[in-house]
Amino acid sequence: MAAATAERVRRPPRAERVRWLPPYLFAEIDRLKADLIARGADVIDLGVGDPDLPTPPHIIEELAQRAKDPANHQYPSYSGMNDFRLSVAKWYRRRFGVELDPLSEVLTLIGSKEGLAHLPLAVIDPEDLALVPSPAYPVYHVATMFAGGQSWFMPLLRKNGFLPDLDAVPPAAAERARLMFINYPNNPTGATADRDFYERVVRFAARYDVIVCHDAAYSEVAFGGYRPMSFLEVPGAREVGVEFNSLSKTYNMTGWRLGFAVGNSDVIAALGRIKSNIDSGAFNAVQWAGIAALEGDQEPVARMRKIYEERRDILIAGLKKAGLNPEIPRATFYVWCPTPPGCSSRDFASLLLREAAIVTTPGSGFGEPGEGYVRMALTVSRERLREAVERICKLDLKSGEQ
Ligand SMILES: Cc1ncc(COP(=O)(O)O)c(C=O)c1O
Repeated sequence: MAAATAERVRRPPRAERVRWLPPYLFAEIDRLKADLIARGADVIDLGVGDPDLPTPPHIIEELAQRAKDPANHQYPSYSGMNDFRLSVAKWYRRRFGVELDPLSEVLTLIGSKEGLAHLPLAVIDPEDLALVPSPAYPVYHVATMFAGGQSWFMPLLRKNGFLPDLDAVPPAAAERARLMFINYPNNPTGATADRDFYERVVRFAARYDVIVCHDAAYSEVAFGGYRPMSFLEVPGAREVGVEFNSLSKTYNMTGWRLGFAVGNSDVIAALGRIKSNIDSGAFNAVQWAGIAALEGDQEPVARMRKIYEERRDILIAGLKKAGLNPEIPRATFYVWCPTPPGCSSRDFASLLLREAAIVTTPGSGFGEPGEGYVRMALTVSRERLREAVERICKLDLKSGEQ
């Protein structure tokens, strides 16, 4: 009997979805970087967008104090501490003039990635379509697939200011769509959206009964006095959608895992229901620290903007000197740079890696319309960016190869 069991052909211990699921883009880049470092290279990492600046001290201090309180050692509440959600509502009023009911229109997330990844489970039925920008943060598409839905990709093209062309969505796809992801300020293109665009999104969503998910993770990383608006500022937005934001980039808190979703109370409730069956909320001490971040001194945020703006200017000037033609971002800490003529995204990224020990992200990794670009993150010091620029200028980029 035992022999019969051993002889039986066993199925591989992996679900089918693990087969089609690509390795997470940045996990792959991390591996290549580790290889280079192991070989002794002085690597400059402009790949993953992870702020190098520290979390402001008053936020760390709040965590340290709250971590000592046994009341915070138990399971948090599923939808988040009322105090934190109230703090988010106050921040929305101060920052955008948007009124939110903290209990029904705000949900705490364990980082916005977590919420974005679970949202399709809350709103998509099998065979539904999600309208997904491309290139884009990879989570939108993969989460749609996890929910059994399909993505209809909306290309983000330079000629349209990297905004999706809603008129180009065929009515048959729009009718089948249940969800639309948008993200401004945009990763990876650095593009921004104005009121007119959001108004068009609201009209489209109302017409086709589509739920809008606006990912505003970079709303506070903006330059030269420009302050991105909230999607929820537009009349009708709350009826059709939700907005996701995060403390990660605003307060250099990527490691802390704290974000939130706000907006349409039905969508917030549905997402809360899914989450309560999967996770048990964000650590209360981290939520207290989040309150300190949202309500405390905002001077570190202003400093952060200035630092990225200076870095942006160094990199843009250097890339231009090297003969490249980068987009100049008004927001985000990404530079979206066209590759040299005749050079694919992957070829250019691997040339930069091999010949200059600079890690970038090939644009095609964010979706096919990102082909012909690489993304560079401004998450290293000015000195390192100057060094990166010097190395790039030494490459002969006209022919696309060294
Ligand atoms: C567009 C976008 N949305 C969401 C996130 C996730 O941020 P977090 O999960 O740290 O809140 C990121 C992180 O890089 C991002 O680029």
